Amino acid sequence: MIKRRDFIKTSAALGVPTAAILSACNPNEANAKTVKGSLENAAKTPLVISTWNNKLANQTAYEIIKKNGSAVDAVEAGVQIPESDPKDQSVGYGGHPDREGNVTLDACIMDSKGNYGSVTYLQHIKHPIAVARKVMDETPHVMLSGDGALQFALSQGFKKEDLLTAKTKADYKEWLKTSEYKPKVNIELHDTIGMIAIDGVGDISGACTTSGLAYKMPGRVGDSPIIGAGLFVDNEIGAATATGMGEAVLRSVGSFLIVELMRNGLSPADACKEAVMRIIHKQSYKDLQVGYLAVNKEGDYGAFAIQPGFVFALTTDEETKVIDAISYI
Ligand code: GLY
Repeated sequence: MIKRRDFIKTSAALGVPTAAILSACNPNEANAKTVKGSLENAAKTPLVISTWNNKLANQTAYEIIKKNGSAVDAVEAGVQIPESDPKDQSVGYGGHPDREGNVTLDACIMDSKGNYGSVTYLQHIKHPIAVARKVMDETPHVMLSGDGALQFALSQGFKKEDLLTAKTKADYKEWLKTSEYKPKVNIELHDTIGMIAIDGVGDISGACTTSGLAYKMPGRVGDSPIIGAGLFVDNEIGAATATGMGEAVLRSVGSFLIVELMRNGLSPADACKEAVMRIIHKQSYKDLQVGYLAVNKEGDYGAFAIQPGFVFALTTDEETKVIDAISYI
């Protein structure tokens, strides 16, 4: 029997469009919304792309690339914009707390050489991505968690801060009245900035940072700091990142899957779609949001989400624009 991967490769060699390949592999494909226009998108490199309407974050990253900076420096600087924005209630300072009222942060960074650093369940530090970078550059490890991550951050000169704002304190007080836990699609699940950059020499890096689900159980860690789930970079192939319900992304190791599908010939858009379909086939998705964003080495990009409402920001030399992702529903 022909294996699926061989089928994709053979079909690609025969010139069968990847959308048709996916249709053959996914019985539910017929239900998926067909897009206005093509699933394929090409942008000139260098570029910066990120989940949600993170225009300023993209532009900050792109400025670094324009000054011949590296993709890894660019993504580290870019995602710090929402991390320090008190109005962004799902990333860094001003993020919603867990159900005990503590803001706990997850972040990771991956560079073009395959180096990776991450922090999970980090409290009191406004820029978890900068701590993740230090883990990558300054330690023999790839991941530090909880109090260990905090102690490491303090030893590196980071300042201990209260990350709650008047608004998130008030929201938490209100939430305690019912303590109902039912994360809202595209609101409490509008959660993460995942950013990918291709720099002037064509190297790819990515960063991902979040305060995770509002009112999560204490100790909960999502997909964002986990290599292959919230983010994966392979400088020879491309990169992918995720937003939405981390549990669903973790179960399917979504970002790694997308990069491997691109290695096997799928476009970024089709690879994102396939990763979403893997989730949909296994669990109820009515109230579930997951959105994937991917770029290949050539600068083709694509995104796909379960629910409508997922947008992403793209910055190239020409402009910064916010684009609606295609969704299954
Ligand atoms: N996608 C972020 C989280 O689930 O924590």
